[in-house]
Amino acid sequence: MKHWHIDQVDWDMFDPSRVEPALIPLVKAAAMVERNGTDYAIYLNRVFADDPDFQGAVENWATEEVQHGDALGRWAVLADPAWNYEAAFARYKAGYAIPLDADASVRGSRTGELIARCMVETGTSSYYTALAEATEEPVLQQVCKLIAADEYRHFKLFYDHMRRYLAREKIGLLRRLRIAAGRIGESEDDELAFAYHCGNLPEDRAFSRVDCTAAYMARAIACYRPHHLQRGMGMIFKAVGLKPRGRLSDLATGLAWRLLQRRRRSFEARVGRALPSPRLSPAGGRGGVAPLSVRKALSRLRERVG
Ligand SMILES: [Fe+2]
Ligand SMILES: [Fe+2]
Repeated sequence: MKHWHIDQVDWDMFDPSRVEPALIPLVKAAAMVERNGTDYAIYLNRVFADDPDFQGAVENWATEEVQHGDALGRWAVLADPAWNYEAAFARYKAGYAIPLDADASVRGSRTGELIARCMVETGTSSYYTALAEATEEPVLQQVCKLIAADEYRHFKLFYDHMRRYLAREKIGLLRRLRIAAGRIGESEDDELAFAYHCGNLPEDRAFSRVDCTAAYMARAIACYRPHHLQRGMGMIFKAVGLKPRGRLSDLATGLAWRLLQRRRRSFEARVGRALPSPRLSPAGGRGGVAPLSVRKALSRLRERVG
């Protein structure tokens, strides 16, 4: 059962004067990826073929993901009435596919698969929270808050099932860390880049993964503030079996923040111009991260992980 319905959103409250143009391409791209949730459900049902409990949960999960796509798509059409959500999604679907014929997880184990799912939900939960705080448009705020709450529940869902499989498969911490890091690194793969392409560029334009990733990521990273990373890092630590709060988590957050800003600068250089951060003040905000160079933070982190 869904926790909310798309028709419960106050669509009448939409205020075009408060739409930040820089956020529209992000919302369009996110709508594509979310709507594609049913494909992931097919894949997960194959990987967990003999686990009816999990399959039931996945069916509900996919329904919610599709609703995320539809809600974001509906908002994007309000913000840009010339945009065709269905046509853009059809284009995305025709050009991007995950391997649906798998009978085992691409992560090497079911625990690994569920850790990867936790990483995705951590990313989306943080991202929609950041988007909700980056916009002043009331309907986008409401939609992003509803989605972020769903994504957090999804994290808990996959986390609970992961714990069940971990007790059976007994995967070590280092391997769990490697799987988590691997999935986080995939955020610059084709999925988002192609979604950005289909959602925002004309049909006759050739797809450039590098350019679309840069355009998408430069804008997306600009929405983040340290407290989003801090919360996300806590979820990552929890998923891999480390203490979510503490010095190690703080150090990792500080390091991640600096790496993210470095990536942002390199994406902005690729895009060719610095993108303004929507609404929020420059670096700082809540959840302050102590000033520390990337190298220093990395060496402290290594010392603590051992
Ligand atoms: Fe979602
Ligand atoms: Fe989700």
